[in-house]
Amino acid sequence: MNNTISIKKAQTQFPVADFITDRFSPRAFSEKALTEQDMNTLFEAASWAPSANNEQPWLYFYALKGTPGFDQLTEIMMPGNQPWAKHAAALVVTVARKTFAANGNNNGAAEHDLGMANAQLMLQARCMEVFSHPIGGFSKDKAKELLGLDETYSTPCMLALGYLGEASQLEEPFLAREGTPRARKELSAFVKAI
Ligand SMILES: Cc1cc2nc3c(=O)[nH]c(=O)nc-3n(C[C@H](O)[C@H](O)[C@H](O)COP(=O)(O)O)c2cc1C
Repeated sequence: MNNTISIKKAQTQFPVADFITDRFSPRAFSEKALTEQDMNTLFEAASWAPSANNEQPWLYFYALKGTPGFDQLTEIMMPGNQPWAKHAAALVVTVARKTFAANGNNNGAAEHDLGMANAQLMLQARCMEVFSHPIGGFSKDKAKELLGLDETYSTPCMLALGYLGEASQLEEPFLAREGTPRARKELSAFVKAI
């Protein structure tokens, strides 16, 4: 087993499913490619997320490594993300449409629902041995310009996707982060019985 997987496995107090404990956001990706079939499986998993009024307010724009689109998506990232994310097999811009298609009214749940779809995508990925790393550090303005999106849309998050690589391929500070166990707040800090 890749050593990073055992370091990053969530140490839980309660019996959480493996596909959740074993998901983490890596920075070391292998050279192995993702196929269009893989990507469609991930997007279909996302599509089965619940959403307010079944609006399905999400849009996904993606590029596989080796394409001009992949280079364009790499270029809109902040410098702290580019060095590792450029080795991913695919990059995705995840987008929420902030108004209801039927009447143009504000959809206050749009980003919430995009987040749920993204979570389903990421957990489906982990079930396929594909890892995902969400990225908020990119120019939202450049993303919207590149993708032809107006203010009706928000682009809170990109995703880097790919098979896991060896931590040793990373330079600092990313190398140290790849070897650091994951941590979470205690349940008592955010769960209250009423
Ligand atoms: C909306 C969002 C934005 C994020 N932006 C970045 C980012 O720009 N760069 C980065 O390295 N990680 C980013 N992350 C990853 C988080 O740092 C990571 O999910 C968190 O530290 C928990 O680690 P885990 O996913 O391995 O459990 C982002 C995560 C989310 C959900």
